Amino acid sequence: MSLSSPHLPDPAALLDADTAHSSVYNDPDLFEMEMDRIFMHTWVWVAHRSQLPEPGNFITTYVGKHPVIVSRDRKGAVHVMLNRCRHRAATVCEQAKGKTNSFVCPYHGWSYSLDGALRGVPHQDGYDGLLDKAGLPLVALRVEEYNGLIFATFDETIEPLADFLGGARKWIDLFMKQGGGWPVKTMGEHKFSFPGNWKIQLENTTDAYHFPIVHRSFLESVDEQTEDMLNFLGGEGYVEDLGNGHSVMVMIPELVDLDANLDEPIPERFTELAEELSRDYPPEQVRKIVRAVGGSGFNLNLFPNLACSMAFFRVLRPVAVEETEIRHIAIGMDGGPVCANEARLRLHEHFQGPMGFGSPDDAEAWERVQKGARGGEDVRILLNRGIGHEKKREDGNLYSDVSAETGMRAAYRMWLHMMTQGDAA
Ligand code: FES
Ligand SMILES: [Fe+2]
Repeated sequence: MSLSSPHLPDPAALLDADTAHSSVYNDPDLFEMEMDRIFMHTWVWVAHRSQLPEPGNFITTYVGKHPVIVSRDRKGAVHVMLNRCRHRAATVCEQAKGKTNSFVCPYHGWSYSLDGALRGVPHQDGYDGLLDKAGLPLVALRVEEYNGLIFATFDETIEPLADFLGGARKWIDLFMKQGGGWPVKTMGEHKFSFPGNWKIQLENTTDAYHFPIVHRSFLESVDEQTEDMLNFLGGEGYVEDLGNGHSVMVMIPELVDLDANLDEPIPERFTELAEELSRDYPPEQVRKIVRAVGGSGFNLNLFPNLACSMAFFRVLRPVAVEETEIRHIAIGMDGGPVCANEARLRLHEHFQGPMGFGSPDDAEAWERVQKGARGGEDVRILLNRGIGHEKKREDGNLYSDVSAETGMRAAYRMWLHMMTQGDAA
């Protein structure tokens, strides 16, 4: 008998083309495998450029289970470093964000510069000259950026970020048109946890099917024109697999390119805003700003942890097999009109905010998935909606109607690919 044969799940046995075993939500060993095989070996979103506008700015966050610091050094370069002192592992920074010249460990006072180099060691003479400071920087991750989105990875061997994003890049560019002619900036965030697996949230942002059911109270809280616009099931929208686990769910096709059809009438809910903007901007620009305030007509899901969701960023962090942290980050126009950014914030609060009409209902549904999945071990989770009329575009991308589970199947295909890579060897 071997004393060292841990139970290793077999991911390939848990998933087929259109169903999943419910242990994908609740097996702790599988969760540990995901943290290793997925989150250690892919690009994970860590920040938006506007969160680090100046040298010395930093934020703290996570890559999988690993606490990291994202900083901008004096020369403007962005670094992502393990938030772990090289002496005895204490985190060197506990602030969510800020500005500094250095990171000083609170335990024995080792200090690190913005690029992670070890600078100061109190009472260094106690090491008798044996301490190699140059060899003890904060552990650096690889960092790359696309259109303001900053990603990091522990894996030096994976493809460049641009290749990993592939077909999603054009959708990121479209999403960033919400700057209305200015760069996009983040405008604050709130976070919450739900007692459920991270993949339940990953599925949700590509799930149009739930919208009219779970979000009925939200739909009752908006004007008729908005309600009509959001009545997209059965419409011309679609879900498309963009490769590498990424997908886009287009709910309102006329709001894919915010610069197109600018001569369309301004929706009633923005009449007052348009009047206010008209005092400072010509009509064409007013239309462009108002359009940007309303947000994009699609959700872009970037595997494994970021959704560019209509008008905000939704970021997931797997905490434990049955615990996930979600951050909703509001975005606006960097240098744009104050009244337009305020209008964006009010819209954000209305659905995504902690007292909003949308997110609390989502969170309850996710919690119930986790709870229900504990029962009936052998009952499969269905991922087959829309598969019967799924088609292939010329570039090979699969797509189906807006309420299809094409985006979930795309994410699970990537999940399986990463979870089984190397198994055959
Ligand atoms: S643990 Fe950081 S200085 Fe000792
Ligand atoms: Fe929802």
